[in-house]
Amino acid sequence: MRMPRRSARHILDDSYALAYPALRSAVEEFPEAIQHPVGVHFGWWDRAGNALRSNPGKSLRSALVILSCQALGGSIRQALPAALAVEMVHNASLLHDDIIDNDRLRRGRASLWSAMGVPAAILAGDALFFGSLHALTGAPHADRTVPVFLAAVQNLIEGEYVDTLMEKDTTATLDDALDMIAGKTAELLSCACTLGAILSGAEDERVQHLSRFGLLLGVAFQCTDDVLGIWGDPEATGKPARSDLRSRKLSVPIALALNENGPPAERLRALYRREAPPTEAESRVIADELERHGVRGAVVDLARENAGEALAALHSCDPDPVTSEELAELTKMILQRSS
Ligand code: FPP
Ligand code: MG
Repeated sequence: MRMPRRSARHILDDSYALAYPALRSAVEEFPEAIQHPVGVHFGWWDRAGNALRSNPGKSLRSALVILSCQALGGSIRQALPAALAVEMVHNASLLHDDIIDNDRLRRGRASLWSAMGVPAAILAGDALFFGSLHALTGAPHADRTVPVFLAAVQNLIEGEYVDTLMEKDTTATLDDALDMIAGKTAELLSCACTLGAILSGAEDERVQHLSRFGLLLGVAFQCTDDVLGIWGDPEATGKPARSDLRSRKLSVPIALALNENGPPAERLRALYRREAPPTEAESRVIADELERHGVRGAVVDLARENAGEALAALHSCDPDPVTSEELAELTKMILQRSS
């Protein structure tokens, strides 16, 4: 029987409800002392150990694993080990990323390093990373899933490192920025789809279409993230206003703008090369100027183009129709999201 289609919010909530018990059980297996900072990061409890019910994150990656598995005829049960693994490694990478980016806010709360110190955040990230490997190695098809997962993590590490190298690099091109975000973000979304597809037991060709869907969706996701990093509402993003501009990140909108001619691009280049970071007022002026010159619109269009190609790749894998509609819902949400 064809089930009614769920909204994106509903899909993400369901995925969280499915992955959460597995995540809690996995964290309970960690050495006792490290469980505390891990739970603070997830918003399960505060630093004093009082239970909380705060924003745990989007659960997008676990939803992609589950839906990719279902799209090719697999079940939720088959997908769960990989859903757990990608959620864990994603959170590990965020813990380390907030230290690298010196970001004090994540999901509207203090980032773990700013709440409990850098050692706690590094080691909570390490525990989650090793926990993610543990989740996959003990599950079926580990001979196929673990190499895919390890390759994705290496790409993630490379993408993040290139991101740090590109900071304040006013010579970077749009292609440099797109390559960097493919590694930093899109590889893990692609990995989520690939793992779900492998766990369904489908043949390689169909798996590859879903890998490509995830990669293009990831590029669209990060383009939207970069738009929010400059023009997002801090109430919705849970991050400071214009955070990417204040820290002079070489995001996709900035790479586009730096490669333009004319006074706004020159002003931006000067500000990115200067010793002192932009002030609050300067970051506001740049954000407005970039928007007036169509940079925001161009990145939104780029996100749309990648999402369109992602959906074409999805349809090539001959997916289950209801699941395909739900993946399309998630794609739409990724383009329209404000957080
Ligand atoms: C967020 O980007 C960062 C990532 C998506 C990847 C971070 C990757 C690593 C730290 C390397 C891998 C590490 C482990 C432990 C597996 P962003 O800074 O643009 O986004 P944000 O605004 O959400 O911080
Ligand atoms: Mg960051």
